[in-house]
Amino acid sequence: MNSMTALVDSYTPGMTLPQGFYTDQTIFETEMQAIFCTQWLFAGHSCDVAQPGQYFTLPIGRESVIVIRDRDGTLRAHFNVCRHRGSKLAWHDRGWVKTLVCPYHGWVYQLDGTLQAARFMEDFTCDEYPLVSAAIREVAGLIFVCLSPQPPDFVMPAAAIAPQLLPHQLEQAKVIVRDRYRVHANWKTILENNRECYHCQVAHPEFMLANYDAGLPGDDRNGNTRFQQTRAAAYQRWQTLGLSPHEVSFPNGSWFRITRLPLRDGFLTESLHGRLTAPPMVDVPDLDVGSLRLVGMPNFWGHANVDYTMTTQVIPISAHETQIDVAFLVRQDAVEGIDYAVDDVAAVWRATSAQDWQICEHNYAGICSSAYRPGRLSASMEASVTEFINWYLRQMTDR
Ligand code: FES
Ligand code: FE
Repeated sequence: MNSMTALVDSYTPGMTLPQGFYTDQTIFETEMQAIFCTQWLFAGHSCDVAQPGQYFTLPIGRESVIVIRDRDGTLRAHFNVCRHRGSKLAWHDRGWVKTLVCPYHGWVYQLDGTLQAARFMEDFTCDEYPLVSAAIREVAGLIFVCLSPQPPDFVMPAAAIAPQLLPHQLEQAKVIVRDRYRVHANWKTILENNRECYHCQVAHPEFMLANYDAGLPGDDRNGNTRFQQTRAAAYQRWQTLGLSPHEVSFPNGSWFRITRLPLRDGFLTESLHGRLTAPPMVDVPDLDVGSLRLVGMPNFWGHANVDYTMTTQVIPISAHETQIDVAFLVRQDAVEGIDYAVDDVAAVWRATSAQDWQICEHNYAGICSSAYRPGRLSASMEASVTEFINWYLRQMTDR
């Protein structure tokens, strides 16, 4: 704790964080407790657990959670820990079960977490050994979990996200591919990179075909009136389509952002060619709906386009390593080879993701050097990085 106090004291507002925040494994352990076991985390997609018994697991530091659909349709989150001798209960990333059976001694749990049967247990009451549950919420096809017994408010984020994301019908979607990456960088390096588009012109030729490098909170560059005019006109058009565009950006220092941004002329979606890559997911007469941006600190961002949605989930492994899952969703009834090709849907974001991870690894290598000193952030282009750092420091010091 002393090292943390010293680190916090050595932080200068407007600059990047001192080195120890990125490299110190003790700080990492504190983050797992103060942030990843306390905040809402993006867990996955409703369509992956649409049917009773469908589940997936989510690793969070030394924790693991099973997200599973109960028989009555209720979504549940259980800690992935058997109440007998503590074995991991679900060993796979995802599956479909009638009951949860521990692979060690065969204790059987119902989907709601109650213990149904335990062999050769004398003077024993199953009722006393339910799985430990965690908080879980679904909003417009996205699932969030919180490991804290006192989860933060989810009413306000749900109210902001639902009206804007519901038209994309993610509950009726399917995941067509998941790309998993192991990135040799601290998770904050990856979040910081996501929170600015200062690097986009330099690093992301495919992304820049469809996108402006504008629209991030705090970016009040003069001379960017072209983007502002385009966005104002698009907002009016989207309103008539019932898409309720409304920028909600980390309200009161909160953890989430949702905003619909226009794409460049000639681009209906974030594709290499501007055309749709899959059948429309949004049921509107005008397909020019831009791209809905979602951010959830500390582990999520996504872009909902008219034809596909991309979600990125960040899972810290250690101070030096991060797992990242990028998923692509299209309409459930779309047929591969006829309605879409995975490589076409994923083209822009596969290129952009690979570029980002490479940037982050090189950034992190420099952060680990003896020559690293906190650097100045641009007040316009990196305002959102500063906002992320402030949010992060509040979580770390509010405990
Ligand atoms: Fe699960 Fe023994 S540890 S049944
Ligand atoms: Fe990037």
